[in-house]
Amino acid sequence: MDKLLIEGGYRLSGEVAISGAKNAALPLLCASLLSADPLRLDNLPQLNDIATMLRLLGDMGVVIHPEQNTVLLDSSGLNNPVASYEMVKTMRASILVLGPLLARCGEARVSLPGGCAIGARPVDQHIKGLQAMGAEIKVEHGYIHAKASRLKGARICTDMVTVTGTENLMMAAALAEGETVIENAAREPEVVDLANCLVSMGARISGAGTDVIRIRGVERLNGATHSIMPDRIETGTFLCAAAVTGGDIRLTRTSSAYLDTVVDKLMDAGCDVVSERDAIRLKAPGRLKAVSLRTAPYPAFPTDMQAQFMAINAVAEGVATIRETIFENRFMHAIELMRLGADIQIEGSNAIVRGVDHLQGATVMATDLRASASLIIAGLVAQGETLIDRIYHLDRGYEHIEEKLSRLGARVKRVR
Ligand code: UD1
Repeated sequence: MDKLLIEGGYRLSGEVAISGAKNAALPLLCASLLSADPLRLDNLPQLNDIATMLRLLGDMGVVIHPEQNTVLLDSSGLNNPVASYEMVKTMRASILVLGPLLARCGEARVSLPGGCAIGARPVDQHIKGLQAMGAEIKVEHGYIHAKASRLKGARICTDMVTVTGTENLMMAAALAEGETVIENAAREPEVVDLANCLVSMGARISGAGTDVIRIRGVERLNGATHSIMPDRIETGTFLCAAAVTGGDIRLTRTSSAYLDTVVDKLMDAGCDVVSERDAIRLKAPGRLKAVSLRTAPYPAFPTDMQAQFMAINAVAEGVATIRETIFENRFMHAIELMRLGADIQIEGSNAIVRGVDHLQGATVMATDLRASASLIIAGLVAQGETLIDRIYHLDRGYEHIEEKLSRLGARVKRVR
């Protein structure tokens, strides 16, 4: 199993390009199931989660023509509307095939995802929404069996804001008969990116980016070409990595447009952040100031940036309180950061982080994707060597991370 070896204490400087967004790419790949015409996606990141999704679509009969950061998906021969436990257990976002399969094939058999390291993560809202659209759904032997001759538009109000839930229902509604209204919809930029692609495919959608999305179903969708938005979490992660080292970096092929809360917190921590049209520049002071935060659905502070901010607070001046409101078990990285010398106290959904003068390198274990990122950030500033085990989590969501960090002057090496 690969590990990452980091020698701490080097300041990041220079320029790197940000990749396409994983969390936009995954639903966009599933959107190809909605049409018999080909869908071309550009700016596709090369990640394990993307490879898993392509394998899943391939198993269903989708013909895939991958090039380096582009893929052409041809779903004209779609013949097997099934997502097996083996697939869904490696990647929860596989649930995103449910809505499109049901809308296009009239049936789907998708494994229920289990819990995961950060919480229980049920999919009841996906199921409830599809039932409101007339689907007959049975959950048996760990599988969701869904059937509908044609879905019907409905008014759906989800019990909580769910990103993939909103995406699943929006894709299903695109081919339903009549109008669907999704209330309490997720406003995440990735939902908007998906809506934009669906509209290029001929869908009639308004309100994406607000909490009420209206979809007027059409008989069929056509092919399209779409360029995937930049990854705002990768962008935020590199900003934190530079900030903690007192660095000076410029990130290209990205934008601060979707990162307001993250950029505000970095400025509160003492960084100078300048937004350009398709780039962001960050200059950090010698030592950051502690910044408290509370995660919540977009446009509030993203849960996917919580772990990275815990790492920068670990060595900042002062005390920060971090409140996690989305996932019930998303502080696993705290224990590992403490192995590096961080002073963190967990009280339910709050973490109190008292900044220490320095961290010391040690062997630590990545527990999930963003936890891995926080350990890298800590390793970059820790004294001596940090060895991060189980970095397969990292490969699910960060494209060429060690190469990008090395280009910025970090001492990072993959150990096989
Ligand atoms: C997406 C992101 C993930 C991010 C998360 C929150 C993708 C592929 N993943 O995950 O990176 O951390 O949003 O921003 O886009 N819930 C239910 N029932 C449901 C659905 C959700 O109880 O049917 C709960 C979840 O357990 C969680 C909360 O709602 O507590 C939000 O989850 P959700 O927005 O659905 O997360 P994902 O879409 O899985």
